[in-house]
Amino acid sequence: MSQPNGGTFDIVILGAGSGGYAAALRAAELDLSVALIDKAELGGTCLHRGCIPTKALLHAAEIADQTRESEQFGIKAELLGIDMAAVNSYKDGVVARLYKGLQGLLTHNKNITVVAGEGKLVAKDTVEVAGQRYTGRNIILASGSYSRSLPGLEVDGKRVITSEHALKLDRVPSSAIVLGGGVIGVEFASVWKSLGAEVTVLEALPRLVALEDEDISKQLERSFRKRKINFKVGKPFEKVEKTENGVRATIQGGETVEAEVMLVAVGRGPTTANLGYEQQGVKLERGFVITNERLHTGVGNIYAVGDIVPGLQLAHRGFAQGIFVAEEIAGLTPPVIDEAGIPRVTYCDPEIASMGLTEAKAKEKFGADSVETYNYNLGGNGKSQILKTQGFVKLVRQKDGPVLGVHMIGARMSEQVGEAQLIYNWEAFPEEVAQLVHAHPTQNEALGEAFLALSGKPLHAHS
Ligand code: NAI
Repeated sequence: MSQPNGGTFDIVILGAGSGGYAAALRAAELDLSVALIDKAELGGTCLHRGCIPTKALLHAAEIADQTRESEQFGIKAELLGIDMAAVNSYKDGVVARLYKGLQGLLTHNKNITVVAGEGKLVAKDTVEVAGQRYTGRNIILASGSYSRSLPGLEVDGKRVITSEHALKLDRVPSSAIVLGGGVIGVEFASVWKSLGAEVTVLEALPRLVALEDEDISKQLERSFRKRKINFKVGKPFEKVEKTENGVRATIQGGETVEAEVMLVAVGRGPTTANLGYEQQGVKLERGFVITNERLHTGVGNIYAVGDIVPGLQLAHRGFAQGIFVAEEIAGLTPPVIDEAGIPRVTYCDPEIASMGLTEAKAKEKFGADSVETYNYNLGGNGKSQILKTQGFVKLVRQKDGPVLGVHMIGARMSEQVGEAQLIYNWEAFPEEVAQLVHAHPTQNEALGEAFLALSGKPLHAHS
């Protein structure tokens, strides 16, 4: 592909990750001309270093667990070992196929000019790449995020690693410390344990997945205990030292944990330094780009999307914001995206999926007396028994009002989030959902049963 030599476009997009490329595709559909700039592969973190490869690892991990546990189902099988090279080649194959498809979508589009190289905002309407100027009637900043570390904590890529390194490991570590019990932390803890590593999660806050409803954290901790995944919560990490064969981490109070590697999963920071944003007057706070609710930065015709905008750092939020801004620029005046209406899924075993407000947040917003909750235990669900999974579906509603939150934990709960999202975003009343027939026996039925119970007509519910 020949490199273009600058030019003028309806939109110049800096960053071709989920937010940037979604904006490009939607803008092109609306017949706007687009320059899409990226210094690395099209597809960004999600496709190459995030969602897709990690979920492939989690699937391989699930197969390892199912093989190990097959006898419970009367199937004789033996887990002979983990061939990490083959696991990686399966994972890389998935990424490669999706990458090829995405390249085709973007490079064959007559309205999109893909520019390979490092871009910098040099004027309110111009991004420069290798000395060439790309001028846009509109600019979309979509430069994404990177794995953060802590002050004084040096990531060497070998013993102290980030998720990017972890995805490239050519072996299963015999033992691992996972620093941070957020989404990345619990997903890697889950994968490594399934693949045979001894794992300890260190989390400063009082519980794992602290942004989720408290009941979800409790159930995850119960499941992790059962799976013999160690975790220490409520004490911040202090330091890590190299030992002869690995690392030793110290947490507040002096307790230490040793392992072959330590994964740093303490959050992702916005990639906004040295890109010329502030020089052009774009406001940054803690590195994040500040926008109004229509994702406009307040400077010229500059918008921002994805992980650089404060809020949930999720690929599907990036897609939605990219589409939103393209439509906004085209004059379609799309409705503002409700951040609480974005589904959240954590793909550890057991899976966690949630929508809307936690019980605590709902009580904060509406008052404790105005909020009602119901926990439907998967113990009463036929399919959950077949799968031998444990967990629950928890509903939060406004008394005599709509559903405010849906929180689920258990096998295959990620796939139930679609219905939860419609329920939340359409402000359904539990009584309305209870009228809908859910297929039996499915994990999805647990959602239906929870709504039957919350509407005062429980079926297979044990209280
Ligand atoms: P996170 O913000 O979810 O979790 C980081 C955790 O590290 C927090 O619980 C925090 O309390 C803890 N921590 C921070 N400093 C600490 C210290 N000094 N000692 C001990 N613990 C400390 O960030 P994470 O897991 O790194 O993920 C980054 C982003 O990527 C998140 O926004 C996440 O939503 C996204 N992501 C989403 C996935 C999904 O949707 N399935 C999968 C992976 C990542």
